Amino acid sequence: MEDEVFAAAEELRRGGVVVLPTETVYGLAANALDPIAVSKIFKIKGRPHSDPLIVHVLDDTWIDRYAYINHYENRIRALVESFWPGPLTLVIKKRAIIPDIVTAGFSSVAVRCPRHRMFHNVLALCDFPLAAPSANPFGYVSPTTAEQVRQTFGKKVKIIVDGGSCSVGLESTIVDISKEVPKILRPGAITAEKISSVLDEPVSDYEQIVAENPTTPGQLKQHYCTTTKLVLFQNGHCEIPSVSSGKVAIIFNKKPSNIEKIMKKLPLSIEDIFWLSENGDQSDIARNLFATMQKLDGIGYSVIFCERPKRDGIGVAIDDRLLRAAAKYQVSDGKGPCLDV
Ligand code: TXA
Ligand code: MG
Repeated sequence: MEDEVFAAAEELRRGGVVVLPTETVYGLAANALDPIAVSKIFKIKGRPHSDPLIVHVLDDTWIDRYAYINHYENRIRALVESFWPGPLTLVIKKRAIIPDIVTAGFSSVAVRCPRHRMFHNVLALCDFPLAAPSANPFGYVSPTTAEQVRQTFGKKVKIIVDGGSCSVGLESTIVDISKEVPKILRPGAITAEKISSVLDEPVSDYEQIVAENPTTPGQLKQHYCTTTKLVLFQNGHCEIPSVSSGKVAIIFNKKPSNIEKIMKKLPLSIEDIFWLSENGDQSDIARNLFATMQKLDGIGYSVIFCERPKRDGIGVAIDDRLLRAAAKYQVSDGKGPCLDV
């Protein structure tokens, strides 16, 4: 085992906060059973205490320690067998041992078993669960590399364990299984259809939140925001708002075949054109989205245009993140050139 894994476990045992890699995004972790340690996460992230944290466990045998499994045993068994360790978080009724600060006072707890070897090893050394939100300042893009975390939290967190680029690239799917009909609270790589087929019962799919103040925790309309203005476009053609000044960047789902035509329509050069996959593979798009958004955010563009994906499979999750990232900016004003690509 790597030295940094031991160092991270040691720091966590002392009540500290460390950054750990998962297969989805990097997490800012602390002992979930220690309210003082958990309060440091909220402080570092600037996160409101109304937004509950996910509790990460070593394996399914830990669920019973922290949540009441009896009513939902069949559902839990089926989902855990198919998807754990992996990017699926289960919301279940909590036991009293989980401090209220973790669940924002809710009577349920979100439990997840990540697939990354280093996270797993830290959990095995600690023998307590880890509360860990994504390791980004509240509201900003989630990090999928250690370097991204260093840029934002390098001065605030001593130990940032580098586990390479996250293989999934988007946060876990969250499903509330304590409802009569299980409900997707956040879309991710594991889709509602996959969950429904494993459970062999209907699952209520994710509804894109448009309200400013949603009743479900964590479903803010604005999230994952870049500081640079982000404008979305769709289906290869759209009304691009007129760009008054400054450099613009454009992100496609796949490598465009008509780069010259695009360059005639927008004030950009070839190095301002980016794509998230070679051939439109949705998993590649998900894996590269956040890293590309953060990279372009630091370069001084006045606008970043980004193509919306097809809303199927993990595309629902990609589109959810993009819609929320762009929510604070006006979408197309319809006056600019049409990007007919
Ligand atoms: O992939 C992931 O899930 C990553 C990695 C680090 O594991 N974690 C992550 O955590 O995305 P975070 O804090 O960025 O998102 C946690 C979200 C909350 O905003 C809320 O939507 C939901 O999980 N959540 C947590 N506890 C809940 C509960 N008791 N009831 C309903 N939703 C809950
Ligand atoms: Mg987050």
